[in-house]
Amino acid sequence: MDNNTAAKKVMVSGIQPSGDLHLGNYLGAVKNWAGLAQEFDCYYFMADLHSLTVRQDPKELRRRSVAQLAQYVACGLDPEENTLFIQSNVHEHAELGWIINCYTMFGELSRMTQFKDKSAKNADNINGGLFTYPALMAADILLYQADFVPVGQDQKQHCELTRDVAMRFNNIYGDTFKVPEPYIPKVGARIMSLGNPTSKMSKSDPQGCVFLMDKPEDIARKFKRAVTDSDTERCVRYDIENKPGVANLMSIYSSVTGKSFEEIEREFDGKGYGAFKPAVGDAVIETLRPIREEAERMLADKAYLQQLYTQGAQKAAYVARKTLRKVYKKVGLVEKPF
Ligand code: TYM
Repeated sequence: MDNNTAAKKVMVSGIQPSGDLHLGNYLGAVKNWAGLAQEFDCYYFMADLHSLTVRQDPKELRRRSVAQLAQYVACGLDPEENTLFIQSNVHEHAELGWIINCYTMFGELSRMTQFKDKSAKNADNINGGLFTYPALMAADILLYQADFVPVGQDQKQHCELTRDVAMRFNNIYGDTFKVPEPYIPKVGARIMSLGNPTSKMSKSDPQGCVFLMDKPEDIARKFKRAVTDSDTERCVRYDIENKPGVANLMSIYSSVTGKSFEEIEREFDGKGYGAFKPAVGDAVIETLRPIREEAERMLADKAYLQQLYTQGAQKAAYVARKTLRKVYKKVGLVEKPF
C-alpha cells in the first residue's frame, strides 16, 4: 500500500447477488459509490455468502455474482480505482465472521428487523445463518478498518450493531478495529415499491421493482402503472404521509435528475399524474440506458470479468489478512505456521 492510499479514509459496502440489481440498490447504494474513489479507499463486493441464508439456485447465484460485477463497473466504479471482489473469494470474511459471532449477543441479533422480516417470509427455512448474518456483515466491514459504510436506510441497524461489536471487542482487547459510521444518502435511501409504496422496493416483488437490466419498454410500463393516490387534487406534491406513492416517485425523479422537490412541484404544477409518471419513467430509462448497454458489453467478455474479480480478491485479501492476523493474536489463536 502506498502512503497516499494509507492516508485515505476507507469505504466498504456490498450487495447480495440473491437477485438482479434494482433501482433501490442503485439509488440507495451504488450510485453514491461512484466518484468516491478519488477521496476514499473503496472496497465493494458481491455478498454471495450472505445470499446463502436464503435458498438459491446455484447456477443463478454464480451467474448473478459475476453479472453484478459488470453492473458495478457499468455504474461507474472503475476497477483500477476501487477494489471490486466476490466475498467468498476472500476467505477471511468467513473466518472473521465466526470470531465476530462469538462477540455478538443473542439479544442483539434478536432485535434485528431484517431478521424478523426475512424469517416471516421464509418460515420454512429460518436457519442459523439468517440469524447470525449481521455478525458476518460486521466482519465484512471491520476486516478493512472501514471509516464509512455507504448503504441505504434499511442497513443502518446492522451498521449500528457493527459499531457496538467493534467497541466491545476494542474494550476487551485494546484498539483493534476502526469503529465505522453508516453513510446514507439524503435522497434515495429508501426507494419504495412502485406497486405498493408502503413497502420498500425489493426483488421479491418484480412488478413494483425496476431492475437495472430491464428493457426501456418494461421500465415505461412499470412507471405508467405506478400507484399514486386516490386523492382528487391529483397534484404533484411531496407529502410522505398522505401521498406516499407520489413522494416515492418524486424521490426517484429527484435522485436521477438532481432536481429539488420544490423544482419538481413547479415543473408539474397543474399537469397531474398523467404527465408526471411517464416523465419519471423516461428519466429513469435515460439514466439506466448507458449502464445496461455497458454491462451487456462486458458480460460478453467472461475472461475480462474473471480477471477483474481475481485482481479484486487479491487486493482485498492483502488488507483482510492483516486485520485477521491481528485479531487471531488478540483472542489467543496460534499463528498459522505456513
Ligand atoms: P442488500 O443486498 O439487501 O442491498 C444492497 C444495498 O442496497 C440498498 N437498498 C436500498 N436502498 C434504497 N431503497 C431500497 N428499496 C433498497 N433496497 C436495498 C441497501 O440499503 C444496501 O445498501 N446486508 C447487506 C449486504 C451487505 C453489506 C455488507 C453492506 C453484506 N455485507 C457490508 C454493507 C457492508 C444487504 O443485504 O444489502
